[in-house]
Amino acid sequence: MRKFFVAGNWKMNKTIAEAQALMEAMLPQLAGIDNVDIGVAPPYLALPAMVERCRGAGVKVGAQNLFWEASGAYTGEVAAPMVAEICEFVIVGHSERRKFFGETDETVNQRLKAALAAGLEVIVCVGETLEENEAGLTAAVVTRQLTEGLAGITEAQAAKITIAYEPVWAIGTGRAATPEDANRVHRDVIRPLLRQQFGDARAEQMRIQYGGSVTPDNAAELFAMSDIDGALVGGASLKAESFIAIVKAASLVAIIEQETKK
Ligand code: PGA
Repeated sequence: MRKFFVAGNWKMNKTIAEAQALMEAMLPQLAGIDNVDIGVAPPYLALPAMVERCRGAGVKVGAQNLFWEASGAYTGEVAAPMVAEICEFVIVGHSERRKFFGETDETVNQRLKAALAAGLEVIVCVGETLEENEAGLTAAVVTRQLTEGLAGITEAQAAKITIAYEPVWAIGTGRAATPEDANRVHRDVIRPLLRQQFGDARAEQMRIQYGGSVTPDNAAELFAMSDIDGALVGGASLKAESFIAIVKAASLVAIIEQETKK
């Protein structure tokens, strides 16, 4: 059984002070939930404070992006060894990076390789746009993004990778994919690609998060699906109450699945 991984992507939100207040509100309620991997990805400047605060608290802290060169004259960029010095994980390939900052499958692959070389766990984001979805291109787009994004990655490296399927039309729109539609992409497109590249055993262990308007209202239904192994949460991760409720939904579904297996 795969352990759920619920991560909050705070995007460009929260000053250090605001991040501290949010974390103070969340940690007491998240304490003791050990059947879900919990992560937060604050903006870079809040990372040191969040890492400090989360030490020993069962919450992983990650960055939202990194650059593939290890050092040098790249004004404004942050390198993988810098992220790895304090963080456990990093997100790469988010659709906002693709849309606003020219990210391509090739640069996702470069970032992924740099992150893995630095020892980071990585969440690799994929997902189709509304136009691609309406044109029936979902499987083709996700296949291209994963094939190129994961090019050259070995089975051993894949142990550190989580895939996040985030249909672009569902991000920040309040219009999540239905659990069935999301699961179809996870089960019939993403997992088979992982099997092909990494073999059955590794593919079965790899977690595939769903992202795009996950809320306390739809989380349990999503988590109950066979191949949805957690969530990458944007908007709902900015408030303690809603993020905690989503983590608790994962915990509850995990308990129920454990019970019904017996
Ligand atoms: P959302 O964002 O939950 O606000 O839709 C998800 C994401 O972009 O990771």
